[in-house]
Amino acid sequence: MADDLLRAEAIEAGYGKVQVLWGAELTVRAGESVVLLGANGAGKTTLLKAIVGLMPAWRGTVRLAGQDITALRTDRRVRLGMAYMSELGVFPGLTIEENLQIGGQFAERAVLRRRIEELFGVFPDLAERKRALAGALSGGQRKMLGIAKALASGPKLLVMDEPSAGLSPLFVQQVIAVLGRFRAGEAGGAGALSMLIAEQNVAFLDLADRVYTLDGGRIRFEGTVAQLHADDALHRAYFGLA
Ligand SMILES: Nc1ncnc2c1ncn2[C@@H]1O[C@H](COP(=O)(O)OP(=O)(O)OP(=O)(O)O)[C@@H](O)[C@H]1O
Ligand SMILES: [Mg+2]
Repeated sequence: MADDLLRAEAIEAGYGKVQVLWGAELTVRAGESVVLLGANGAGKTTLLKAIVGLMPAWRGTVRLAGQDITALRTDRRVRLGMAYMSELGVFPGLTIEENLQIGGQFAERAVLRRRIEELFGVFPDLAERKRALAGALSGGQRKMLGIAKALASGPKLLVMDEPSAGLSPLFVQQVIAVLGRFRAGEAGGAGALSMLIAEQNVAFLDLADRVYTLDGGRIRFEGTVAQLHADDALHRAYFGLA
């Protein structure tokens, strides 16, 4: 469709001879926030890496705003408007400011300077400590820096791998709150941000316009959060026996 920002079509990928993804398909429409739910080992990271170009897709196509980007390197995809936050997220041996500069390395200097000032407005804790090493931050602050670093490239689409990883429930809520502001277009000054979030933590469904579940390298479900709740087997799998 014309407003499809990201399309992953029939993606197959794996490691060596071991196939992990078996025809995975997903779409993120412009302005949409999509959560990819899956248990440990489901293939979430593998699918995100194929989408951002950190590993090759054996088969299938990745499109960004209609353009076939399957053969492009990650840096080309970043220039086209895709940003990726890995589970690690930041360079601990560099300062907060340097991390943001790396995140925005393909932007013009003046644009990047303005963007970093805007991000410091959204993340005042980072602004206060901009010359501190990222490695000296708490886990929660480091995650905020990871998000800010990805946003420093001024992306159309923010792709995140398990933003909850390593965080206490309180920090998880803070991360969800800040992402909610970008989703609503209240932060960052660039309108509603489109997001693809891979998670096991169902708290992130608060951010989801749509959900996909990934199981054994295959997409099993696509729909709204309400539709996910309405499916008994999926409800049990992701929310436990309530
Ligand atoms: N570098 C690798 N070499 C070989 N196999 C790998 C490698 N990385 C992942 N795998 C395997 O691929 C499968 C999918 O892993 P992947 O990391 O994509 O899952 P995930 O959904 O991100 O899991 P998690 O929630 O633990 O991050 C798993 O069986 C995993 O053991
Ligand atoms: Mg993973």
